[in-house]
Amino acid sequence: MEGVRGGLAKNRDFQLNYAARAVRVAKGVASGLNVGLVLCAKVSINTSATFEMVIVLVSRLRQMSFAEYSYCEKRAVVSQIRLFSSESEQTALIRGFIAQQVQIGRRVEILEAGCGSSWLIDLGGINYSLTGVDLDAVALSKRVNVTKDLDEGIHADLRKVDLGDRQFDVVYNSFVLEHISGAEIVLDRLVSWLRPSGVLIILIPDPGSAYGFVTKMTPHWFHVFFYRFLLGKVDAGKPGHAPYRTFYDPVVSRGGILDYCAEHGLTVEAEFGDGYWKPGTGFAKIIVGFSKWAIKILSGGRLSDRHTYLLYVIRRGSLER
Ligand SMILES: C[S@@+](CC[C@H](N)C(=O)[O-])C[C@H]1O[C@@H](n2cnc3c(N)ncnc32)[C@H](O)[C@@H]1O
Repeated sequence: MEGVRGGLAKNRDFQLNYAARAVRVAKGVASGLNVGLVLCAKVSINTSATFEMVIVLVSRLRQMSFAEYSYCEKRAVVSQIRLFSSESEQTALIRGFIAQQVQIGRRVEILEAGCGSSWLIDLGGINYSLTGVDLDAVALSKRVNVTKDLDEGIHADLRKVDLGDRQFDVVYNSFVLEHISGAEIVLDRLVSWLRPSGVLIILIPDPGSAYGFVTKMTPHWFHVFFYRFLLGKVDAGKPGHAPYRTFYDPVVSRGGILDYCAEHGLTVEAEFGDGYWKPGTGFAKIIVGFSKWAIKILSGGRLSDRHTYLLYVIRRGSLER
């Protein structure tokens, strides 16, 4: 009996020891987790604070107000943007909106405001005319004399060009507004050149994306360096070749465009981000991808690494039938 009782007591002691040890281990894990969480929170707060400090310094250097920076960023995180999964999806959407204008029953008149040296949308099967306006004589002459895809090429500044009382069914403005100081005045003019049922198609880099943000905050020489040495474009920065100087007026942002449309009674029929554009090839592509990811982390997730630019389809009135 003694032996059995002793055995039971030993067993109970063993169980108590085991339970005590389990409690100690659980406490250790909990306090370890606690320390880990506190550390993570501290690192994240410090990273965010450092990021804000860097932004303040850089915005001073770029002579931008901090408010201008935060204006874009705050609106950028309001809601998720739908992303294109491929370039063909994007061009199909643009083509679709242009093709819709055919319903008006006559030739679709398109103004390409800031046409540059190439037009990438295949409009085969659509009866249309294309008028291009650009400030860069070299780029425009390529369209007029080499590609020969414009019905009319006008060498002029969008801030001043006099188009009389002409109006268009489609105004296409791709990667131009960020290059204009006084972009909102140009936006007013683009809208004024639209027929009542017309659509304005705008593409802008998103300063709420890691890539767009760096472009906004860095000087022109850095853009030329990036194009020449990372993207391998030897003529970068020469007349007729990107990159062009950037200004990024406040309207050139997600918040800026949405506010502009709301204030001017315009309907945003489509808002998309690219979800596919990965600049560069080989090692350069890896560096750019990693940098975008690192900037997203440093910004506490405020700057997106999933897209770079925004596309808007904006209608002035409603489609005539
Ligand atoms: C990045 S390129 C884009 C070209 C083309 N739209 C595209 O998407 O490939 C910018 C173009 O905007 C033009 N541009 C910049 N400021 C302009 C202005 N104030 N008036 C007219 N064109 C301008 C430049 O000359 C250049 O051709």
